[in-house]
Amino acid sequence: MQGFAESNNVKKVFFGENSLKKFGKIDILQKTQKRIFILDKFFKNKKNYIKTKIIKKSDLVIYINSDIEPTDILIDNLILKIKKKSFSNSKLVVAFGGGSTLDVGKAISNLLKNKGKASDYQGWDLVKKPGVFKIGIPTLSGTGAESSRTCVLTNYKTGKKLGMNSDFSVYDIIIMDPFLTKTVNKNQYFYSGMDSFIHSFESINGNYKNNISDKYANISKNICEKIFLSKNMKSNQNRSNLMIASYFGGLAIGMSMVGLVHPFSAALSVIFGTKHCISNCIVMRGMKKFYPKEYNLFWKMVAKQKIKIPKLNLKLDSNILNNTSKNLIKSTVVHYKPLTNALGKNFRRILTNKKIIEIFNKF
Ligand SMILES: [Fe+2]
Repeated sequence: MQGFAESNNVKKVFFGENSLKKFGKIDILQKTQKRIFILDKFFKNKKNYIKTKIIKKSDLVIYINSDIEPTDILIDNLILKIKKKSFSNSKLVVAFGGGSTLDVGKAISNLLKNKGKASDYQGWDLVKKPGVFKIGIPTLSGTGAESSRTCVLTNYKTGKKLGMNSDFSVYDIIIMDPFLTKTVNKNQYFYSGMDSFIHSFESINGNYKNNISDKYANISKNICEKIFLSKNMKSNQNRSNLMIASYFGGLAIGMSMVGLVHPFSAALSVIFGTKHCISNCIVMRGMKKFYPKEYNLFWKMVAKQKIKIPKLNLKLDSNILNNTSKNLIKSTVVHYKPLTNALGKNFRRILTNKKIIEIFNKF
């Protein structure tokens, strides 16, 4: 086990039922003018505490369509919009939503202080300066976006689904209020929760693991197992616990790395537009050989909660590669860091083109 790990952490965490109401009274929120709010479009026609009590007429509100994975182009266009509305000197970004919305909040914050395009910063430690002060409020648990040091963006030009991995991509303040996940539908709750389970076992089984990432990941994994093998995964206690699991899962990958599930999942998102958390669950169909214990546990949890995992039936020819196959392979192997974490630097000896297509055919 390697001993070295470093990561920036969230500066302040509000946690607990109704913590959102306490947060409404904090100084930075009250004293800052020209605030930018990034909200999931789910809240567009809904009243909630943020909209009725916090957002003022003088704020800029941007709605994010979380049915689609955020892209580098989306961020570039939002920055243009922010400039047009004369909010480029804004001192505060608040994101309220699931993992995609939280990731957009981070990327906007970074781009307001760093020149160029979003794609310039996709990679590791490329962001030069701290972004605008940012606050994240998750309304879904599992992605770990609230605590991780990345904001994942799909780039269709390069075929990469890659984040701005940087200490500057960590939220300054987060508000974890389990009340907010009460109305999430059952399937979405499960898919997102599994992202946390997957982050944890990818970290635990990886070459980049270390003592601290292991501790975070084990806490997260154990909580997930308890929740998703229980009768009521959405009980008050379980929703509270899943927020904690998500937070620890994000810290675990911040201190180590994701593994084999995420590169395959990213390829599904880039080529077919499948959303991150559901893509991960689909990829689990092909993970028996690589993560046998976790594979069995995953399907036990699926059965216990009576969740449907979509079946893709791709039926690709593993001997003669067509364009789809070539693109899927390219969009998988481009994630060499997670693949090295999972299988070592000679991962292509194991993941030959033929093997990769055989795995996709299991989806
Ligand atoms: Fe993930």
